[in-house]
Amino acid sequence: MKVRRLTTVGAALAVTVLIGGTAASAVPNGAQFRPPADSLRALAQPTGLRIGTAVIPFDLDTDGYVQLVGDQFSVVTPGNEMKWQVVEPTQGSYDWTAADRLVSFAQAHGQLVRGHTLTWHNQLPNWLTAGVADGSISNDQLKSLLHKHIVDEMTHFKGKIWQWDVANEFFTDSNPSQINPNDFWVSHLGAGILGDVFRWAHAADPKALLFYNDYNIAGEDGTNAKSDAVYAWVKSQLAAGVPINGIGDQGHLDTQYGYPYSLQSNLQRFANLHLKVAITEADVRTFVTDAASQVPTDHLAEFAQPYEFEQMLKACLAVQACISFTFWGFGDADSWVPGFFKGEGYATIYDVNLNPKPVIQVLQQELRLAARAAPVR
Ligand code: XIL
Repeated sequence: MKVRRLTTVGAALAVTVLIGGTAASAVPNGAQFRPPADSLRALAQPTGLRIGTAVIPFDLDTDGYVQLVGDQFSVVTPGNEMKWQVVEPTQGSYDWTAADRLVSFAQAHGQLVRGHTLTWHNQLPNWLTAGVADGSISNDQLKSLLHKHIVDEMTHFKGKIWQWDVANEFFTDSNPSQINPNDFWVSHLGAGILGDVFRWAHAADPKALLFYNDYNIAGEDGTNAKSDAVYAWVKSQLAAGVPINGIGDQGHLDTQYGYPYSLQSNLQRFANLHLKVAITEADVRTFVTDAASQVPTDHLAEFAQPYEFEQMLKACLAVQACISFTFWGFGDADSWVPGFFKGEGYATIYDVNLNPKPVIQVLQQELRLAARAAPVR
């Protein structure tokens, strides 16, 4: 396959080459970027749904990988590069290098950016967690630091981020579920901090869509307890005037639990609150022989995996307010799953060698049908 070289931003020449028999252009001006006609992003275009990926690993230098990022997806999320730990490794000194690079890449390829994530208990800088632990950072100072982090990061990227995950994973997995009293932020600053971060975010970049993002909030837990808790919370926040624009369901599925058929109705009830919704971190994992080859141990998983992806995409397509469907990485070799779920893998849409898996044809077909039938967003 011919490889398209990335041209630097600013070059005005349109370079069109043939990729797998389909014309694609490397024009840095995103408005002129033409993805292959059978790409996921092009097939979704008639419905207005953006198909996205997290960029993991952060590899914008390997041609084959980069070509898939540009050709297949119309929205990108940095897997880690906008997290606090990465952007402010030393207190007071910011490093936006990697995230800036992805934003430029997106602009050159007609893509939007999902910013991820401003307020989370994980991947915080050591200076912050150590300072809180040893008492050198008081709760008042912690609150000011969080405010500064949100304002500085959103101001840096102002006007360039379509959706921001302002708050991530605040609810317990228990039944009933609630805002986790032991969460790093909640335990120090109280549950009201959740409203504060959205207010600060809105003031910093009023045009960005502000999302609450979490896993198992569309029925994946089998009880709907977590979805119910988030629903009640967001409803109360909206009534209090907190500027929340959307709910992101991460969409980490696992074939051993089966497909959660209440996913669509859960997305719809959030949408009925006049919120946007999105699938933000889709993957479907299963048990595999080993982390290197990621061959499913049960051959039926090769059917279940595409099926669950298809159903999840279908649910999003059916809900007009579902504006993006983002995969949490697109290649099995780069997926977070083997490192976080013992014995599992096969969770993405390309195999460990970046060859397309059967699921891609299923998703293409679903998008072709949706182009005729799904509500346009
Ligand atoms: C994961 C990344 O993919 C890994 O590279 C990193 O080591 C840990 O975080 N939910 C989220 C994401 O919101 O930020 C997480 O990403 C996966 C779970």
